[in-house]
Formats: sequence, structure tokens, C-alpha cells
Amino acid sequence: MNPRIVRQILLVLCFFLIYNVVQGVEELSKLEDMELEKQLKILNKPAIKIVKTKYGDTYDCINFYKQHAFDHPLLKDHNFHPQMEPTFAEIKQNSYDSTTNRLPTIWSKDGGCPSGTVPVKRITKEDLIRQRDLPSPEPAIFDNEYSNYNSEQKASYMPSYGGYKRAIVRTPKESTTKYTGAGMTTSLFNPHVEGKQISASRIRIEKGSEILQAGWRVDPTLYGDNKTRLFIHYQIGETQCFNTLCPGFVQVNRDIPLDSSYGNLTQRGVHTWEILMYIYRDQAYGHWWLLLGQKYDLVGYWPNIIFTELAQFATKIEWGGSVYSPPGVPEPPMGSSYFPIGNSSFDGYCRSIAYSNEEGDSVDIHNIFWYTDNIFAYKVIFKYLLEGSNNFLYVLYGGPGNKAQV
Ligand SMILES: *[C@@H]1O[C@H](CO)[C@@H](O)[C@H](O)[C@H]1NC(C)=O
Ligand SMILES: *[C@@H]1O[C@H](CO)[C@@H](O)[C@H](O)[C@H]1NC(C)=O
Ligand SMILES: *[C@@H]1O[C@H](CO)[C@@H](O)[C@H](O)[C@H]1NC(C)=O
Repeated sequence: MNPRIVRQILLVLCFFLIYNVVQGVEELSKLEDMELEKQLKILNKPAIKIVKTKYGDTYDCINFYKQHAFDHPLLKDHNFHPQMEPTFAEIKQNSYDSTTNRLPTIWSKDGGCPSGTVPVKRITKEDLIRQRDLPSPEPAIFDNEYSNYNSEQKASYMPSYGGYKRAIVRTPKESTTKYTGAGMTTSLFNPHVEGKQISASRIRIEKGSEILQAGWRVDPTLYGDNKTRLFIHYQIGETQCFNTLCPGFVQVNRDIPLDSSYGNLTQRGVHTWEILMYIYRDQAYGHWWLLLGQKYDLVGYWPNIIFTELAQFATKIEWGGSVYSPPGVPEPPMGSSYFPIGNSSFDGYCRSIAYSNEEGDSVDIHNIFWYTDNIFAYKVIFKYLLEGSNNFLYVLYGGPGNKAQV
């Protein structure tokens, strides 16, 4: 045989051997792969129409009654009628002004989802593999664990918990108010995160260990990119999840999808973009609704039946920024990525913060605690800012993180 051909055959053989070894490492076992396929089948319901947004996301328009929420064991016989939607009058607001920008229309030109369907972001196998690395959620902290501050409006240092750091305001400790909702208008930023870092702004409503959240976040582990995206999250007992990755949240709006990315972001000192969000427990059925935008568009709801502690009301609300970094990794920037200077043109903020009381009336907040978990990395200011002839209440928060501290 020609030695040159022999050499070539050997080379090719060698290449195949190496290739297979490398592949063996990266390939999922068959069993794992089957498991992922099974999960995908549960998450991605048959699409009646597929919509690509102008930002490149793929959404499936699925039959309302086929959505993942109804896979919840307690929601098998759940019934929904449009009459169950809380009306604008029911959401008794009093403090909201209307300078909020209108909701982004994210759909491409061919229109959104047809009537009777809701948009659900398509989940890929890559998403599922990446999301295995999602950190445990922010733990519930009970009031008696706040040992080291004893006067209101005093910043205090909370030991970090679970890799999370916050710069927030919250309702008073051991408050006896029965909260039935909370809202804010939050400015949209795109803090730079790397690896498994997360940077978010949110409302957090809780009672005991049941928690609801809504806000925006930059979270490559969850989303696979570093865009600023709308998110919701719930924790009930051992169950916790984002958006509609597990059953619970019933989507009713066919024009406002969850997970959507925001195209228009605040440029510090130049132009501010913001979004209003409200979580509201309706009086008739006790469902917790997510409302978005200045018209309080109904996005969907967490049905009352899935809750135990939050079935009637909440006992604590938080507004502000939250970041995460894995152990040994520096803390990422939060909000505008700068410490607040007291000017809403420059600072990340939550403004027009309000809660709903037992009667469902929206109430301004005056008596409040504020704190940051790491005052060297993040700060929070709580103050009134004069705009025109009106004073608006602002939670100005944010910071560069701590690149030096590991
Ligand atoms: C984003 O900003 C541009 C330029 O100001 C504007 O034309 C556009 O309508 C905005 N988009 C949304 C969704 O508000
Ligand atoms: C987002 O990711 C892209 C590509 O990895 C990078 O070029 C960009 O700087 C990132 N942006 C932010 C705000 O982190
Ligand atoms: C905030 O900054 C803007 C732009 O520089 C300025 O016009 C405005 O007066 C500042 N507001 C306050 C309250 O300092």
C-alpha cells in the first residue's frame, strides 16, 4: 500500500477517535435527552400561530385552555370567564399620574395572536439546560430576622443571603395592614452582567413563605441573553418559578407576552423610559392579577386556589433593586449602575409606589423602611421630587456593584 494513503487513513482514524472522546463529554446521555424532550413537550403546547417579534423572540400562540397553567393539579377544573376580570374602577387608584410611556408593541407586522389564544415564549432544549443553573430564589426573610435596625428610615446592613443583594424600601416591620396589592413605575435600564450574575428591579409581595414578584431583569441564565426583560415569579412552598415555566400563572392577554424584552431603555441624563406594573388581588375571586402600563392592562393572574398564606392578603411589600452573583464572583451593577444622586433623570428608580388596602383602595406610602445589603456597592434614597407643581415619591436606587470585592 502507498505509505501516503496509510498515513492519511491513520490520520482520519485518529481524528474520529478524538472527535468521539470530545463528543462523549458534551453529549447528553440518552436518558437525559429523553427527559428534556418530555419537558419540552409539556412546556411547548401546539401552536395555532407562530409569531416572531421584532426583537427576534419566537412566541407560540396557543389555545387559551391549553396553556401550561392548567397542568397545575389544582387548576384542572379551573374556569375562567372574561367577567372575572377586575375592572379599571375596581382597581381604585388615586396617586398615579400618566407620564408613563405607552406599552411597547413587540409584535411584528403580521399582527399578534388570534382571538382565543395567548402568546407563550417558545422554550428550547438549550434554555432548559441553561436554566438548570438558576440559583435558588431569594429566601423569604421573616420580620424577626431583621435584628439590627430599630428605627425607621435608617439604612442598615443586612448580611447577604444566598448571593443576593438588595437596595430596597419595604413596608413597616410587623405591620398589621392587610395588603391586597402593590404597584410602581420603574425606570428601565440595562445593567451589564456577566456569566451567572443577575440584576433586577421588582415589586415583591409576601406573606410567610409565599411570594409574588414582578419587574424587569437582566438574567442570562434564565433568558440566554443580556436583554432587559419583563419577568414574574412566584414561590409557594417548594414550588418556585419564573414566568410560565411551571404551571400557575393564567395568561389572559393576547397582546402582552411575558418575558418580552424592552427595546427602549433609559439613557442616563438623556432620556428616561419606564413601565408601570401593579399586582392586584381582585375582591370578587381573590385572584392575584398582573397589570401593566398606564391603562392597567390585564396580563393574567395567579388563581386564588393555588395559595394558602396569600389567599386573603399579604403582610409585606418590597420595592427596589435586587442583584445576584454566584459565590466568589463580584457583585454586578444595579439600576443605572451608579449610586443615586437624587435626580430622577440620572438614577434608577421606582416611583409612584403604592399599595392596595383591605378595601382595595390604592394608598400612597409614607411610613417605610429602606435598606441596602451592601452600602459599598449599592445605595437607596427615598424622597419626594418636585415635577411641575406636583411632588412625586421616588425610591432612587442602584450602584456600580463591587468589582474589587470578591
Ligand atoms: C422607542 O423610541 C423611539 C424613538 O424615541 C420611538 O419612536 C418608539 O415609538 C419607541 N418605542 C416604543 C415601543 O415606545
Ligand atoms: C450583552 O452581550 C453582548 C454579547 O455578549 C455584549 O457585546 C454586550 O456588551 C452585552 N451588553 C450588556 C449591557 O451587558
Ligand atoms: C436633574 O438633572 C437635570 C438635567 O441635568 C436638571 O435639569 C434638573 O434640574 C435636575 N433636577 C434636580 C432636582 O436637581
